[in-house]
Amino acid sequence: MCGIFGFVGEGLNVQDLINGLKKLEYRGYDSAGIAIENEKNISIYKKEGRIYNLESEIPQLMEKKISTALGHTRWATHGGVSDQNSHPHTDCTGKVAIIHNGIIENFQYLREKLIKNGHIFKSETDSEVIAHMVEENYSGNLLECVIKVLHELNGAYAIGVIHTDEPNCIIAARKGSPLVISAGSNISMLASDVTPILRYSKDVNFLNDGEIAKLTNNGYELYDLQGNKIERKPIHINWDEACAERSGYNHFMEKEIFEQPIAIKSATIGRLKDGIPCIKELEPLKDFIETKLEKIYIVACGTAYHAGLAMKYFMQYYSNIDVSIEVASEFRYMNPKIDGKTLTIAISQSGETLDTLEGVRIARKNGSHVLTVCNVVGSTIPRESDSVIYMNTGPEIGVAATKTYTAQIAILYIVGAQIALWKNLYSEDIKNALCQIENLPEYFNTVLGYSQKIKELSKSYCGYRNMMYIGRRFGYTAALEGALKLKEISYINATGYQAGELKHGPIALLDQEFPVFAMVCDDDIKEKMISNIMEVKARKARVVAVGIEGDEKIKTLTDDYILIPKCEQAVFPLAVAPVMQLFAYNVALLRELDPDKPRNLAKSVTVE
Ligand code: F6R
Repeated sequence: MCGIFGFVGEGLNVQDLINGLKKLEYRGYDSAGIAIENEKNISIYKKEGRIYNLESEIPQLMEKKISTALGHTRWATHGGVSDQNSHPHTDCTGKVAIIHNGIIENFQYLREKLIKNGHIFKSETDSEVIAHMVEENYSGNLLECVIKVLHELNGAYAIGVIHTDEPNCIIAARKGSPLVISAGSNISMLASDVTPILRYSKDVNFLNDGEIAKLTNNGYELYDLQGNKIERKPIHINWDEACAERSGYNHFMEKEIFEQPIAIKSATIGRLKDGIPCIKELEPLKDFIETKLEKIYIVACGTAYHAGLAMKYFMQYYSNIDVSIEVASEFRYMNPKIDGKTLTIAISQSGETLDTLEGVRIARKNGSHVLTVCNVVGSTIPRESDSVIYMNTGPEIGVAATKTYTAQIAILYIVGAQIALWKNLYSEDIKNALCQIENLPEYFNTVLGYSQKIKELSKSYCGYRNMMYIGRRFGYTAALEGALKLKEISYINATGYQAGELKHGPIALLDQEFPVFAMVCDDDIKEKMISNIMEVKARKARVVAVGIEGDEKIKTLTDDYILIPKCEQAVFPLAVAPVMQLFAYNVALLRELDPDKPRNLAKSVTVE
């Protein structure tokens, strides 16, 4: 969950290193640091806090040309947030510098062993052991030395290592934490994801677990843990650098909310025509789905789980297909009932979430076919899955998932419809929902047009300490996501409930200090939802609702409301998403918080 960027080559300066690192700041922003190797000397600069803290300490260095450098932005796991615990870490002699993303599980044992051998540690981190182990094992060949060290490490890592005895060389390695390498003209690079690399090259190689790369001025070489050379062609990335810029918006989150019309178009284009699904990635599964498929299991975390829940409701409600869904961190440990007749659908924007990855591994081990819906091409989960549908929404940088959430639901509904079609369970209702998904870009443009109204609304709610989101069926899945968006970026205690569950406990919380956000879908159970709102009002809680245009009851019953254009009930979680997202975004701004970098969170969760 840290960000790594480094390079060997000609023509770049410290500002380029910092700029690359900034593109990865979404991965962790507790501290930042750089190591620069120059004339057999390594200089380290590191600082607690955001990258601009580091940048403002070294203005005189920015124009300095550098040939070998490592950069790191940290999400703290072992050792508090401090200058000392920031990466890069060095050995006792100052000849070695390392950066690390992941967790070294046996670091305590290794550290004690190294201390006994006379090594002096300067930080509380697990990562520092790597620098001292390199010092201890180096005998003139950095590649061989790092391979030896890796055999002693348990846990997860993506690392970059430099040694003053081997200038113009970086050794990079990966197990469990993402790492991508690339060679541009006169420069070789390593990074946690492609975004800092795109400026220099669009051809990249994603390291697999157990692979090591040697980066020099002349490009890179790949090796396995036995030191055998590996040949693998790079893959071409279609994203361009501008996709990872804010492009005039105040925050990535704002940009990504407003990108949803185009993101939905890119995610669905060629996969849907006049309400009929046609996903080419599913074609190889046609026979399996028609003749063998008995059960679907969805595995995901956080927002991706909420998208999966919408799919479960979609499939069960419209085609009565048995779908189970589990949060990946639970799925891993619950002995799930899966076999060769199960289709497991893994959903992950980043493709690196460790819990989801482990879920994929368990499902495959039990004989299930795993289909992944993912945004990041070449990331680990798709590479370990049997089939992949890429979301094509472009990079999502804001920590809170927005455009990828709506794209996930749209794709999952099309997948669900395809399965229903092949199982002869396709219906007019499914077709209507899919037709509306085709028109979503336009629909989103309309809803995004309410942004000023939503901003005004957020002023009335930004001062509360708690907020409850309620809904029924599709409205419930939307409530869960609305609550997650609010809590993660505004730190207001927000929880989503099935409206029917209120009376079984949560209603005890409500009073005039505890407002409720109600999702009022225009469906056959709307009257029940209205009754729930009345129960809430009876406890003097303030109510804001999102409902469908023309709903006069909402206008009279609630304190505040936003009415959106009519939509099929299944489309409701998609339709209300921009409202929920903009509401949370504006509340965070009013509370003077940075919505792109919520405390304690990181975009890609590669630890358990
Ligand atoms: C919330 C959010 C997280 C992620 C979750 C899974 O806004 O972004 O809840 O949805 O960590 O991440 P991915 O989809 O990358 O597996």
